[in-house]
Amino acid sequence: MTAHPEQVRDQAVLRFPEGFVWGAATAAFQIEGAVSADGRTESVWDAFARRPGAIAGGHTGEPAADHYRRYREDIGLMRDLGLRAYRFSLSWPRIRPDGGAPEPRGLAFYDRLVDGLLDAGIEPWATLYHWDLPQALEEAGGWTARDTAFRFADYAETVLTRLADRVASWSTLNEPWCAAMLGYAGGIHAPGRRDPAAAVAATHHLLLGHGLALEVIRQHAPDVPAGITLNLYPVRPADPAAPADAEACRRIDGLQNRLFLDPVLAGGYPADLLGDLAPFGLASLVRPGDAAAIAAPADWLGVNYYRGYRVSGTPVHGSTPAGPEWLGAPDVHFVPDRSAARTDSGWEVQPAGLTTTLLDVHQGYRAIPLYVTENGAAYPDELVGGAVADHDRTAFLDSHLRAAHEAIGSGVDLRGYFYWSLLDNFEWAEGYAKRFGLVHVDYASQRRTPKQSARWYAEVIERNGLG
Ligand code: NOJ
Repeated sequence: MTAHPEQVRDQAVLRFPEGFVWGAATAAFQIEGAVSADGRTESVWDAFARRPGAIAGGHTGEPAADHYRRYREDIGLMRDLGLRAYRFSLSWPRIRPDGGAPEPRGLAFYDRLVDGLLDAGIEPWATLYHWDLPQALEEAGGWTARDTAFRFADYAETVLTRLADRVASWSTLNEPWCAAMLGYAGGIHAPGRRDPAAAVAATHHLLLGHGLALEVIRQHAPDVPAGITLNLYPVRPADPAAPADAEACRRIDGLQNRLFLDPVLAGGYPADLLGDLAPFGLASLVRPGDAAAIAAPADWLGVNYYRGYRVSGTPVHGSTPAGPEWLGAPDVHFVPDRSAARTDSGWEVQPAGLTTTLLDVHQGYRAIPLYVTENGAAYPDELVGGAVADHDRTAFLDSHLRAAHEAIGSGVDLRGYFYWSLLDNFEWAEGYAKRFGLVHVDYASQRRTPKQSARWYAEVIERNGLG
């Protein structure tokens, strides 16, 4: 006999608020494959992947999880999980190849995807930009060119014209820090440049693109919630009493968090960062009207949380100096916590940092509903006898959901949680070796196998809480 849904919910010890949005997330380039189908042209990631040594294993966007062809099966998996919402991104080079005229076949794919989700009772949460800039636009300057922000708004217009009536929630950008800093200063993400001034220009133009796209969303879908997704990290000094560590902390928290949070939620760039980034011309990029466009009230903020940073102003045993993605931040060193468990990405498992991050935003900025739009972990999963016993991922999920619940208990207006990722996928510079999925993908056969963590998450969703 199956239990009545209300009985199942009553079994939860740690209940989440009624209506809490339970989801999972993906991104177009990471799962779709089919890079030449239906008029799609190259993105910066297709071009970057051809660079020798850029991607582990020499992997490319093909075949990924072949989601472009297998999306119906994937919607079925989501339904089996009981997902209330699915966060995905749209591919700019499918919808406006080379950044030019709209391609009806590319748009038609997202039309089918959205309809399929709605038929399955799953809310479509669409992100306009998850890093796959058309390569043709990169060749015209990419995000260092102010014009790219306007081209982004044109692309948003094409998308909204087609999908405004059915998408449940819109996000303009995913993790602009990565697109700007890893792409234009660190050289480890597409387009693979190492120029701090270019990264600063990219930051401003991405944020401007956010503001312009938000305006387009408001015109076409005035009643649909819209926001932006940022990768936020709690940054703490290794030694709270050391002034050099406090300064390192200010610098990294500034570049990682406040450089994005302040213009979106507080009306402009923080004064200290305008000072730090003066050598790279931040202030001179800002034209009249930009600050207001970027700060136009969003309905929600998406927080992608993976881990926190401990920083020091002097090298200490085991620390690593800040790389080029930190724009030459002088004397900053990242200090590991040797006692912390690590994921397969080498990232420390720090569930308490999720509570801290949510509280930091809640206390430091205007009141705005928050969603954890990404949180997850790579582990070296193995498919044995048709099953994946990923207990480490289940433990990761459990501890982070407890941390999210604690934030709610402390007054944070957290409205939902999206696990990264629904499927194993192309983990950018790491290629296919790092598996984040709730669902295992055998890339050779494209067979999908829900992992043990997927079953566990499905129960959490059904109970609206942890047992
Ligand atoms: C953040 C990014 O949005 C996503 O694309 C990536 O795969 C995950 N973090 C894991 O690194």
